[in-house]
Amino acid sequence: MLNIVVCVSGGGTNLQAIIDGVESGTIRNTNIAGVISNNAGAYALERAQNAGIPAFCVSPKDFSNRREFNEAFLKKLEELNPDLIVLAGFLVILPEKMIQVYRDRIINIHPSLIPSFCGTGYYGLKVHEAALQRGVKITGATVHYVDEGTDTGRIIMQKAVEIQEGDTPEILQRRVMEQAEWIILPKAIDEIAMAHQK
Ligand code: GAR
Repeated sequence: MLNIVVCVSGGGTNLQAIIDGVESGTIRNTNIAGVISNNAGAYALERAQNAGIPAFCVSPKDFSNRREFNEAFLKKLEELNPDLIVLAGFLVILPEKMIQVYRDRIINIHPSLIPSFCGTGYYGLKVHEAALQRGVKITGATVHYVDEGTDTGRIIMQKAVEIQEGDTPEILQRRVMEQAEWIILPKAIDEIAMAHQK
């Protein structure tokens, strides 16, 4: 079994795709050990609770400095003992130590075809705003390993999505989720879990 921890900050639709994948068997050999959010109000935490998955909030707001938050976050991860950490809309700069301790065991979903529209400042709707502003005809999503850089780690899987006449950032975000993110993130986890079994 691949023990995974999913880190989230917001609505958690990618988390839901993972929960559904594990429940339906499209993600095989995988156990969701816990969900961690930096944001107490994240709907993703409710999604986890509804699915009976242990859900935790570790918020920078509850600590007097970044070092203390980083330590508490790392401690929670350690308790959950993940084989793989999945960043599913987790909008926090990771502690450097986390990348060292879990090297090649952290993956992220990014809502563009890396290396387009990625790096510092490109997250959530901003990615889609930038794609529309540039006038690209095709965008998509990428699952990649996480290293010290921002969106620079090895690419695992990508899927293209067409931009349509009249798209707004919100409409495009939804299409990229439906046609790419919710498909390739579960698929990447399944592939890693199957390789883990061997
Ligand atoms: C997703 O579109 C994800 O790709 C993006 O945040 C959204 C989270 O939605 N992540 C980034 O932009 C990371 N740079 P969700 O909470 O509904 O899964």
